[in-house]
Amino acid sequence: MSYRTTKRPAKSERLREEPVAYHTNGNGRHGKPKFIDLFCGIGGFRFAFEKAGCECVFSSDWNKYAKITYEANFGEKPFGDIHSVAVANIPAHDILCAGFPCQPFSIAGVSKKLSLGKAHGFDDKEQGNLFFSLAEIIEFHQPAAFVLENVKNLKSHDQGRTFQIIRNTLTDALGYHLHTAVIDAQSVVPQHRERIFLVGFKERRAFEFPEFPAAGPKLESILETDVSDKYTLSNHLWKYLQDYAAKHRAAGNGFGFGLVTGKDTSRTLSARYYKDGSEILISQGPRKNPRRLTPRECARLMGYPKDFKIPVSDTQAYKQFGNSVVVPVVERVAKAVVSTLQHPVDYKPELALAANDKENKKTATRIAESVSYFKTKKRRKESA
Ligand SMILES: C[S@@+](CC[C@H](N)C(=O)[O-])C[C@H]1O[C@@H](n2cnc3c(N)ncnc32)[C@H](O)[C@@H]1O
Repeated sequence: MSYRTTKRPAKSERLREEPVAYHTNGNGRHGKPKFIDLFCGIGGFRFAFEKAGCECVFSSDWNKYAKITYEANFGEKPFGDIHSVAVANIPAHDILCAGFPCQPFSIAGVSKKLSLGKAHGFDDKEQGNLFFSLAEIIEFHQPAAFVLENVKNLKSHDQGRTFQIIRNTLTDALGYHLHTAVIDAQSVVPQHRERIFLVGFKERRAFEFPEFPAAGPKLESILETDVSDKYTLSNHLWKYLQDYAAKHRAAGNGFGFGLVTGKDTSRTLSARYYKDGSEILISQGPRKNPRRLTPRECARLMGYPKDFKIPVSDTQAYKQFGNSVVVPVVERVAKAVVSTLQHPVDYKPELALAANDKENKKTATRIAESVSYFKTKKRRKESA
């Protein structure tokens, strides 16, 4: 296996103490679980894991503008390039979170790189190997759990070979128990956005991905009412997009803009939305050109809190939201991971359910007995 390994220094050589094992032996809780927020962007993971009761002890992102937004919202500037931090200098943690860069694997990213004759996937020297940086951090720090997020295409990239390497590294090489699921955010926000989640536990645990509602909200729930005309498409751009769509329709493929109303669910917001906004255009009726979403609407579309601060230009904001995770999706995953860690390692939900059932039956019998006792007593009183 091509996986690089870093020798784990002896305990005495480490810079920080091991975190208190968080429920890994079922001996009760010692403080908040600590997590690290890698490739943190604007902090989608951080909102979710803080809401699940965890404490962030390290964050990293090399993008200057993402750091500005992160600092405005969390009061902390993330560390820069992940390659430039010594693994041992990353604080000890219980949960490692990372939405690692997806361009080397995403359909759009791969076709762009192919058209430019550039390498993609793990052959992309700069970005493709970031997964192995994650693997090194996991190997060194041995967190009780990790949560990784990426585009759905990660699974099929290079005919499944990329995913196979990732899976083998996390399981065979690092010894983690892996659970994966593709989750579509449209059940919690009005956006069709499928992402793969890889959740790993150091010890075998009964983990299940959370359930999501069958039907989600519609765009009207996130649209603003008073929107500046600067978001309306110019005649030139609107004509260009219509001509482009017509050309592709004639060629028999589906490239085109996504025109929607408040009653719809949008396509996936991409980091390229700032260019022409074509994937999500809001109809403004027959007499007006459609408009793009405002950055605030993008924040809502990604499930960010109402008071989320957007201290950067529209262009940067669109890039940041297009790259982000959907906060309420990660919130549910975070809650499931934290509650799994809170149970003893050998906890079996089905046994707990059975025990509850037994308990419920006992209670139901007790209630039935006392009801019948009072009924009999009442009948005796009436006939006396
Ligand atoms: C897919 S985005 C993750 C977004 C994040 N999960 C969120 O919710 O906003 C990937 C991030 O990785 C960052 N990144 C890429 N290469 C990096 C590196 N070598 N070191 C640190 N950050 C990096 C990018 O700047 C980008 O913000």
